[in-house]
Amino acid sequence: MDQGWSSWLVHLTYWSSTSVLVSWATCDATVADSAPPPPTVNQNSVVLVGPAPRRHTQAVVGVATSYVHDYGKLSQASYASPLLHHVLLSGLTPGATYYYTLGVPVSLAAGAAVGPGPKEYSFKMPRASFPLRIGVMSDPGQTYNTSEMLQHLIASQPSLVMLGGDFTYADTWLKPDEHIPEEVQGPYSYQPKWDTWGRLFEPLLSRVPLIHTNGNHEIEALPDGRRNVAYNSRFPVPGVGRAAPVSFEPVTSSSPYSNLYHAVELPGVLKVISLTSYSPDQEKKGFGSSRDEQYKWLQQELENTDRSVTPWLILLVHAPWYSTYASHFKENDCMREGYEPLVTQYDVDIMLVGHVHAYERTKPVRNYYMDTCGPVHITIGDGGNSEGMNKEFIDTMKRQPDFCDHPEDGKQFPRDQPERCLSWQKGHYCFKEQPDWSAYREPSFGHGTLDLLNKTHATWSWTKNQGGAFNVADLVTIVRGSGGKACSAPPAAAAAASGR
Ligand SMILES: *[C@@H]1O[C@H](CO)[C@@H](O)[C@H](O)[C@H]1NC(C)=O
Ligand SMILES: *[C@@H]1O[C@H](CO)[C@@H](O)[C@H](O)[C@H]1NC(C)=O
Repeated sequence: MDQGWSSWLVHLTYWSSTSVLVSWATCDATVADSAPPPPTVNQNSVVLVGPAPRRHTQAVVGVATSYVHDYGKLSQASYASPLLHHVLLSGLTPGATYYYTLGVPVSLAAGAAVGPGPKEYSFKMPRASFPLRIGVMSDPGQTYNTSEMLQHLIASQPSLVMLGGDFTYADTWLKPDEHIPEEVQGPYSYQPKWDTWGRLFEPLLSRVPLIHTNGNHEIEALPDGRRNVAYNSRFPVPGVGRAAPVSFEPVTSSSPYSNLYHAVELPGVLKVISLTSYSPDQEKKGFGSSRDEQYKWLQQELENTDRSVTPWLILLVHAPWYSTYASHFKENDCMREGYEPLVTQYDVDIMLVGHVHAYERTKPVRNYYMDTCGPVHITIGDGGNSEGMNKEFIDTMKRQPDFCDHPEDGKQFPRDQPERCLSWQKGHYCFKEQPDWSAYREPSFGHGTLDLLNKTHATWSWTKNQGGAFNVADLVTIVRGSGGKACSAPPAAAAAASGR
C-alpha cells in the first residue's frame, strides 16, 4: 500500500514548558477471532523537526510499542494495535512554532534524500506568560455531537487542551455498529474505536498539546487483571519520577499506578495536577489513607508547588466531587472526603471534572459549604458521547431515587466505584433544592475555555453546541481566592453541620 510514510493517530502530549511528546501510529490494526498478530515495524520512531516549513534541523528518536487484547473466540473482536510511536521533543522554546514530519521508513537507507512526500504538521509551544487560553473537554466519545464540540473547540484556538477522561467509549462496543450486551459487559472492548477516535481528534491534537487524566471507560479490565492497557500504550504521561518515555508498562497489580496520576507545569502561569478517580486503593476504601500512594504523592507534589512560579493551580479529575445531577450522585464522595482537606489547604483554584454528561459550575466550595477556601468545581462531561446527556437534577426529580432514603444500600455505586462514603446535608443525603454553591447548571453538549489573564484573574466560558461556535452560555470571571495556610482549619460551622 503506502511507501512506509503513512502515519495516523497523530497527537501531542504536554510534557513541560520546553518539551512535548509526539505520538502516532503506523501499520493497520488487526481484528480477529483470537490471537491477532502484533504489528511489524515499517517505520522508525523518528520525528524530523525544525523551526520553519520543510526545514528539519533535528531528527529525534523515540520508542515504539503495541498491545494485544485477546478475548479468545468469544467476541470476534480480539485486537492487535497498530505500531504506536512516542518521541519526546525537548529543548523547545515556549511560544515558538515547530514543523514536524513523522517517521522514516525502515526501507529508506540512512542519509537518503527524503523528498517532498511525507505530510508535515506544525504546533506552537504554549507561551510561558499570560494570557493563556486552555480548551477544556471531557467524556467526548465520537458522535456527531462530539464532532460539533470538537469543531467549536478548534475554532476557539486554544494553546493547550485538557481532557478529563472517558476518551473513546471503546468499551461500550462489541463490533463496529453493535453495543456490548449486558451479559458480556466488562471484559470486552472494541478496540478499533480507539483508532477512529484518534483519527477524529488528530486535527486538534496534532497541533495543540494535551493534558489529560483517565476515566472509568479507560479501565478496560482484561481477564488477566491488566487495566488501562490501551490508554497507557497510546497516551503516556510524564510519569511519577519518569523523565522520558522509555517504556509504557500496562497497569498491573504489582505496579498499579504507572501513568495514572501526574503533574505538569508551565512556569510563570500554571501547574496542572491530574489525578485518577479509579485506583486500586479506592477499591480498598482507602482514599486519603496511609495506603493511598496517590494521596501521598499529591501531598508531596502540593508541598513542592511554588505559587510564585505557578500562580494557578488546577486539578484535573474524572468523577466530580460537587454535582447536583442525579447521575453518579455522590459517587466520588470518598475521594472528596479524603482529599479535600489537602486541596483546600494548598489553595487549589479550580477543579475540572467530567463523568456526568452535562455542565455545571460551582462557586468556591468546601465540605458542601460556600467557602472562598475551596476551589471552583467545573463539570464539563458534556463532550457529546454516545451514552447521551444526563438531564435530571437530584433536587428537581418528581420522585427521588430510592438511594436518597437508603444510601447505605449502596445502590448508586457502580462496580468500579464501590465505596460508600455517606455525607449528609441538613439531615438529607440528596438535596431538596439547588444548593447555593451550584452557580450554573445546564444539560447540553459543549466545551469550556479557560483564559488565564494574569496572576489573579481568569475568564471561564462554556460554549454550547447549539447555535454555533461562539454561543457562550456561561461566562464568569474567576478570581483566585485568599486561601493559603489560613484555610487549613475547617470552619467550625461546616464541621459541626456535616454530621447527620
Ligand atoms: C446531536 O447531534 C444530532 C445530529 O447532528 C442532533 O440532531 C442533536 O440535536 C444533537 N444533540 C444535542 C443535544 O446537541
Ligand atoms: C488582572 O486582570 C484583571 C481583569 O482584566 C484586572 O482587573 C486586574 O487589574 C489585573 N491585575 C493585574 C495585577 O494586572
